[in-house]
Amino acid sequence: MLNILFIGDINGKIGREAVKKILPKLKREEKIDLVIANAENAAHGSGVTEESLKELQSAGIDYFTNGDHAFDRIKQAEICYEKFPIIRPANFPPDVPGQGYTLINTKQGDILLINLIGRVFMQPDLDCPFRKFQEILANFENQKLFAIIIDIHAEATSEKISFGHFADGRATAVLGTHTHIMTADEKITGKGMAYITDVGMVGAADECIGVSKEGIIKTYLTQIKYPHVIPESGKAIFGSVLLKIDEKTGKANSIKSIVKFINIK
Ligand SMILES: [Fe+2]
Ligand SMILES: [Fe+2]
Repeated sequence: MLNILFIGDINGKIGREAVKKILPKLKREEKIDLVIANAENAAHGSGVTEESLKELQSAGIDYFTNGDHAFDRIKQAEICYEKFPIIRPANFPPDVPGQGYTLINTKQGDILLINLIGRVFMQPDLDCPFRKFQEILANFENQKLFAIIIDIHAEATSEKISFGHFADGRATAVLGTHTHIMTADEKITGKGMAYITDVGMVGAADECIGVSKEGIIKTYLTQIKYPHVIPESGKAIFGSVLLKIDEKTGKANSIKSIVKFINIK
């Protein structure tokens, strides 16, 4: 069995601290072979930086995916796509920096990791994630893959669920990210695919999806955009799912949500 841990959006310094405190022990306890995490908010707020990815790599994360904040710190993002095992959504327009998918070599064979972004209630003018997925698969038609894991970064439950059905029988796992709140619908389909609408996040637990509640409530009350403040200490949530992949078939045997809370000082 290949044990893969997928961690939801890591949000800011408090999220990185939580990963550092929780992940090493969790890897030993659950005998995890490979760790993938969504890093779109890994820098303090949004986007990625070299420092934040380095920190998360040394905590035990092997590969990173991304989302609508993929290019928020464009200079840093460009460096990160060159230097780190990080991908960004494949259905961004052509010619943007980075790659939308990558091959992960394992003892069992190559895992194709794909990152997609949804179009419902998301930034407009993105290519269709459904058709992009088919296009990517066509590139690997003649290549033997052990498994295919997709991070679909999207707001709408309906879009993620529909995508899950669309990919069923072709992908090994379709894992949703972006809402920062974990859904309780993890399942293995009849065709052996793991699915969850959203893996949740790693970040400040008692705020507004990782952002200090005061400013956000003020924004709702006044319609003035107050700056997002991310707490650096306090209660943090660690949202992740553990996938067990059958070594012979490459199909998903189980998906288990692993949620932990920790106090970050
Ligand atoms: Fe996002
Ligand atoms: Fe996020």
